[in-house]
Amino acid sequence: MIRSVVRGFGAHLPEKVMRNRDLEGVVETSDEWIIQRTGIRQRYIAGEHETTASLGEMAARAALDRAGMTPGDIDLIICATSTPDNTFPATAVNIQNRLGMHHGAAFDLQAVCSGFVFAVTTADSYIKSGLAKRVLVIGAETFSRILDWTDRTTCVLFGDGAGAIVLEAEEGEGTIADRGVLSAHLRSDGAHREKLYVDGGPSTTGTVGYLRMEGREVFKHAVGMITDVIEAAYDATGLGSDDIDWFVPHQANRRIIDASARKLGIADQKVVITVDIHGNTSAASIPLALNEAAADGRIKTGDLVLLEAMGGGFTWGSVLLRW
Ligand code: ACO
Repeated sequence: MIRSVVRGFGAHLPEKVMRNRDLEGVVETSDEWIIQRTGIRQRYIAGEHETTASLGEMAARAALDRAGMTPGDIDLIICATSTPDNTFPATAVNIQNRLGMHHGAAFDLQAVCSGFVFAVTTADSYIKSGLAKRVLVIGAETFSRILDWTDRTTCVLFGDGAGAIVLEAEEGEGTIADRGVLSAHLRSDGAHREKLYVDGGPSTTGTVGYLRMEGREVFKHAVGMITDVIEAAYDATGLGSDDIDWFVPHQANRRIIDASARKLGIADQKVVITVDIHGNTSAASIPLALNEAAADGRIKTGDLVLLEAMGGGFTWGSVLLRW
């Protein structure tokens, strides 16, 4: 059985750090409120010359370096983003060009905060079907550009950044001992649109628009949806929370992460947390967190890693993989 194995990982953050205290001068808020409700202490904000594609390019280069590969080795680039540089062409094609790559294919995938989980699942399908051998999967965002900086209920939550992994086809035994993606479960339900959306777009207002969110409503659904797709992963593989080495959730809110881990019985020391330093970077949050935990030696070859995300749409999903 063909498996999609992680060969490299990388990330890139904008130069500018915005701490909670810096936001106190922007909207009526406080460091204490933000930390207590979200766990966020700081986030990175893209500068004038930084874009989703420029951040994504740097993350991609770092992932390729770690994989010991060049753009010439890649046959597909998938970029998960909801904040593309332009309506078109796709940011993935922009990154492809920045990498000096003129073969293969590149496209964007839009599933908001679940984008990276959707992109890894899509890459895995391409690899398993033989359509691609080496896929660069990027999550890159500049959410600061779609925030209403007068709305304290949203602007304190998000940040910018990019992360990437390289997936490569490898022959496995078809058992849970294999390295690579072992299970993937994706869901969406557009009935929840009004709870989290952007109030603009090319076909409606002709503007980019701003992010709007009923935070309490999103919170109410989050833990149930997250545990649903993780239980689906356990059912599909026969694995459970005790088997997991690292839980790498989408980093939206510390309280959502803690509540999900508690409900699933995942021990605190297995949970990778970066929301405190990155804020919610939407599709970039999981690859940024993977980069932190793999670069500092926590995630090692052979470890069982559980990814999960929930976001606008709603969309939600899980990926279980052996590193
Ligand atoms: N600073 C100070 N006070 C604030 C702020 C702020 N930044 N924002 C809101 N408040 C106030 C509210 O006005 C409210 O005041 P009131 O009681 O006088 O009306 C009070 O704080 C409580 O507000 P709540 O919205 O009830 O606060 P809650 O505890 O629910 O926390 C939060 C809000 C952090 C947004 C939380 O609901 C949350 O994290 N929701 C989920 C968001 C999420 O996970 N999104 C993921 C998907 S993101 C994506 O897909 C793009």
